[in-house]
Amino acid sequence: MTLHTGRHFLQIPGPTNVPDRVLRAMDRPVIDHRGPEFARLGAEVLEALRPVFQTKGPVVIYPASGSGAWEASIVNVFSPGERVLMFETGHFSNLWRDVAQRMGLEVDYVPGNWRRGASPEEAERRLSQDKSRAIKAVMVVHNETSTGVTSRIAEIRKAIDRARHSALFMVDTISSLASIDYRHDEWGVDVTVAGSQKGLMLPPGLSFNAISEKALAASKAAKLPRYYWDWQEMLKPNRQGFFPYTPATNLLWGLREALLMLQEEGLANVFRRHDRHAEATRAAVRAWGLELLCEEPKEYSSSLTAVLMPEGHSADRLREVILKNFDMSLGTGLAKLADKVFRIGHLGHFNDLMLAGTLSGVEMGMRLAGVPHMAGGAAAALASLVESHQKAGSIKAVRESVLS
Ligand SMILES: Cc1ncc(COP(=O)(O)O)c(C=O)c1O
Repeated sequence: MTLHTGRHFLQIPGPTNVPDRVLRAMDRPVIDHRGPEFARLGAEVLEALRPVFQTKGPVVIYPASGSGAWEASIVNVFSPGERVLMFETGHFSNLWRDVAQRMGLEVDYVPGNWRRGASPEEAERRLSQDKSRAIKAVMVVHNETSTGVTSRIAEIRKAIDRARHSALFMVDTISSLASIDYRHDEWGVDVTVAGSQKGLMLPPGLSFNAISEKALAASKAAKLPRYYWDWQEMLKPNRQGFFPYTPATNLLWGLREALLMLQEEGLANVFRRHDRHAEATRAAVRAWGLELLCEEPKEYSSSLTAVLMPEGHSADRLREVILKNFDMSLGTGLAKLADKVFRIGHLGHFNDLMLAGTLSGVEMGMRLAGVPHMAGGAAAALASLVESHQKAGSIKAVRESVLS
């Protein structure tokens, strides 16, 4: 094994780098989860989570990976045999569909090419044709982590409204929450699914459901069996800051700190930062002469970029060369994209110099692995970063001169 110095570069699209502040916040003795100190912690994080989802409604926290929150979103609102509309955006929409099918739902699955997001036009068409209102929910993965494509949730909301359809709207934000603008209330989302290990800058182990009034009402009539995931059982003790079972106490201390960090930076700045890093990454990919997997500029992801390998070259070998020589982990191609793409994660606890290091590592790796490309991708990214600072500086200057 090669000995490496300095920090490992964890540039997969989640789990992401955990800030030292968050690590330190978790490094403490476990407390009594039925005691007064826990009640304060629980109440604080349950409240502070809401603005991150841009909701005034309840958010529940599960000691589970994102897949748990997927299952929770389904078992709380449906009865066996009900019909839902889902969109094939990539590996993760496939998996969420599998959960729905295993729970006994009928899934209308709109096929996709893994290079575009869910189509608002197709949603409107399908919902308008559903005269008997058999479709009980529209379920979309906001940011498809396997492809780096972001579906246009606000537009899908409008499509549901144009069709005057009563379906619930359910969205997976596992790799978009706290990275890409997302508005649970304003976009009329009924259930938002999220996880701790990406934009929230925490280790894996927590996942979330944000719940609308309409979804809560649906949960009262829903017949699918549930115990661990039951919102009603969760919401009762949550009112006092407690959980119905043993919570992931130390992860919640980490969550408290991560939420403080997001508050300090301000959500709008968090989104802008992710947009800048994604833009700079795309500048690098173009300068290298490589192809982005996402083929719709309106759907470029700000949390990760998936890059297609030149024909006949292995993405996994490139990742291996980069890991061995530069101690950097990049995301692998998943399912049908295995070995064909590599994914650069630029979400969570991240800054310009970390991006510069990341892209330099990719460029040096391509050179070492003999992947055909043009030099200058990392330099193009630096130029893009500098330009965005200059633009932000001049906007600030104009604003200040107007105000003075
Ligand atoms: C968009 C999306 N949904 C769901 C999941 C599944 O989450 P987990 O692996 O935490 O169970 C992931 C994991 O990366 C994801 O990216």
